[in-house]
Amino acid sequence: MRRFAISGYGPAEKVFQEIVDTPREVTPNHLRVELKAFSINPYDVALRSGKMKEVRTLTFPYVLGNDGAGIVTEVASDVDSFAVGDRVVVHPVSGAYGEEIVLPASKVAKIPDEMSWVEAAAMVTTGITAYNVINHLLTIQPTDTVMVTGASGGVGTSLIQLLHQKGIRTLASASKTNKELVRSLGVTHFSSYDQENPEEVFSNQADIVIDATKGSIAGDMAIKIMKEEGHYVALNELPSLASRQKKNGFYETFVPRKEYSDQEALTHLIAAYKTGNYHIFVAEELAATLDHLIWAHHQLEGHPSAGKIVLTYD
Ligand SMILES: NC(=O)c1ccc[n+]([C@@H]2O[C@H](COP(=O)([O-])OP(=O)(O)OC[C@H]3O[C@@H](n4cnc5c(N)ncnc54)[C@H](OP(=O)(O)O)[C@@H]3O)[C@@H](O)[C@H]2O)c1
Repeated sequence: MRRFAISGYGPAEKVFQEIVDTPREVTPNHLRVELKAFSINPYDVALRSGKMKEVRTLTFPYVLGNDGAGIVTEVASDVDSFAVGDRVVVHPVSGAYGEEIVLPASKVAKIPDEMSWVEAAAMVTTGITAYNVINHLLTIQPTDTVMVTGASGGVGTSLIQLLHQKGIRTLASASKTNKELVRSLGVTHFSSYDQENPEEVFSNQADIVIDATKGSIAGDMAIKIMKEEGHYVALNELPSLASRQKKNGFYETFVPRKEYSDQEALTHLIAAYKTGNYHIFVAEELAATLDHLIWAHHQLEGHPSAGKIVLTYD
C-alpha cells in the first residue's frame, strides 16, 4: 500500500517521501477504506513545518491527512452500519495521504452517488469545523448578526452557507477576487479587505464574529466589527491581549471536542448538498503523486485560490 509520509519536520520538498506501508488489521469498530481522493488542509502544513510540535509531537515516518473519500473494502464483524462496497467520506485523526486507511466507523459517513470523490474529500475538515462552530460552540439567536472573516476559505464558505440555511444575517469579508463567490452563498453584506476597510463598513455591527482567516490575520479588524460585549471566535490563535482589551467581549478559540459527532456533521452537510443547499469548492484536482503533494503544500504556504486542492487515485 503506497502512502505519503514525512520523515521529520521541515520544508515539503525535503521531508515528504512515498513509502510502501504494511496494511493494518481491521480491529473491532473499524473499517478499511480504499481511498480515491484526499485533500490538503492548512493544519497539515502547520504540522509538517514543525510549527505545532510543542502541542502535537509526531513520530516519524508520519502520514498526515484528515480528509478523504473512497470505497469500504473490509468491515469489522461488530459493525453493521457499513458494508463492503459502500462509497464513503472519512475523517481520520491522521493517515489520509495514501491509498488506504483503517479507521473507526464513527469517523466515516456514506455519500450519495451524485457526490464525486473529489467533492467528498474536499468537504471534510472544513465542513465539520463550520458545523460544530455554528451548532455546538455557539448559541446563535435568530436576531443575531454574525460576521465571518476569511469568508472565501474552506471553513468560511461552509460557515456562510450554514448560517444562510438558518436565516441568520451575515456580514463577510474576503478579497475582492472572491466577492462574487461569497455573495453567491447568500451572505447579507460583503466587504473586500483589499478594496475598502471592512472594520469601518461594518463597525460595531456584529453580535458574533468568527475569524476564519489563516493565522487569524484579520483579528484586529474583527474586534472593531464586534459589538461591545460581543462574542469573538478564532479558528486560530486569538488576537493579542492588548487588542482584546480594546473591546469587552467573550473571546475564545474553537477547538474540536470528543463529544462532537463527525457522523452528525457529515450527515447534515451531505443532506444539504443533496438538496442544492451546500456547495463544495475545489480549486485543483490532481493525480496523487509526490510532486503534486509537495506543490499543494507550497500553495497552502502562500495565498492560494479559493477552493480545496484534492489529490486523486484512479
Ligand atoms: N480550530 C480548528 O479546529 C480549525 C479547523 C479547521 C481550520 N482551522 C484553521 O482555520 C483557518 C482557515 O482554514 P481554511 O481551510 O478555511 O483556509 P483557507 O481556505 O486558506 O482560507 C483562508 C481565508 O483567509 C483569507 N485571507 C487570506 N489572506 C488574508 C488577508 N491578508 N486578510 C484577510 N483575509 C485573508 C482568504 O481570503 P482571500 O483568499 O479571499 O483573500 C480565505 O478566505 C486555517 O488557519 C486553519 O488552520 C482551524
